[in-house]
Amino acid sequence: MKDKVVVITGAASGIGRKTASLFAEKKATVVINDINEALLKEVEQDLLKTGATVTPIIGDVSKNSDVQSMMAETIERHGKLDILCNNAGVWWPDSDNDVVNLEEEIWDKIISINLKSVYLCSKYAIPKMIDNRGGSIINIASMAALRGWKNMDAYTASKGGIVSLTKSMAIEYGKYNIRVNAICPGSIRTPLTEKSQDEVGYPSTPLGRVGLPEDIGKTILFLASDDSAYLTGGILPIDGGRAARQ
Ligand SMILES: NC(=O)c1ccc[n+]([C@@H]2O[C@H](COP(=O)([O-])OP(=O)(O)OC[C@H]3O[C@@H](n4cnc5c(N)ncnc54)[C@H](O)[C@@H]3O)[C@@H](O)[C@H]2O)c1
Repeated sequence: MKDKVVVITGAASGIGRKTASLFAEKKATVVINDINEALLKEVEQDLLKTGATVTPIIGDVSKNSDVQSMMAETIERHGKLDILCNNAGVWWPDSDNDVVNLEEEIWDKIISINLKSVYLCSKYAIPKMIDNRGGSIINIASMAALRGWKNMDAYTASKGGIVSLTKSMAIEYGKYNIRVNAICPGSIRTPLTEKSQDEVGYPSTPLGRVGLPEDIGKTILFLASDDSAYLTGGILPIDGGRAARQ
């Protein structure tokens, strides 16, 4: 990963934060994005201890202008972009999110942050990757993309959209040596899920444990590296075996 420039969205917490530290340990140049300024500062301080080059960029990945300036700043500072990890995401587990009860405003918000962000970040990253003769895009979807999930309609739709978009982009940009893959995490212990895991437990898995941020981060590293050079359009369930059972 030395000499590689990676942009990770939603890097202030959970999977994104762990992934940023794995890339920093491998001496990549790490551009960390989040909407949470205070937490992102904390992550920056942590990553600097590894000796890696770190650029924090505050921004909302669902906003065109924020994403455009994030990619411009990445190129201005580091001259190129090799890897994009579209990780930022939200869910609303506390309310009734079936289509009848779901407020339009919440639908728009979830679709914008989870799905439109992948379109926007890729839109501005891909031309830079073409200039750089290749790249790797890793989209974080969910098990919720692969099956129905009661009361999570906007979330499942957003993640299902990521899976479809991943496949389309893989066939569109393969000729530029740009690989596009998606990961479908199972239940991973992060600030996003801790509360519900503590209240109702985590779903049982053939491997008999909950997922950890590094389980996803290490797969992201693999998809970013040349070790996965012939893998594109892949949808990888990293879920302790749950998808195999269902
Ligand atoms: N934790 C799980 O069990 C699990 C399972 C499947 C998929 N995922 C997906 O993994 C990704 C990371 O989830 P996590 O569990 O680490 O969650 P998390 O809440 O710990 O981290 C998500 C980060 O995204 C940031 N973010 C939210 N909206 C943003 C925006 N508009 N612009 C920029 N940053 C924004 C948040 O501030 C936060 O730092 C999400 O896409 C989530 O849907 C998580």
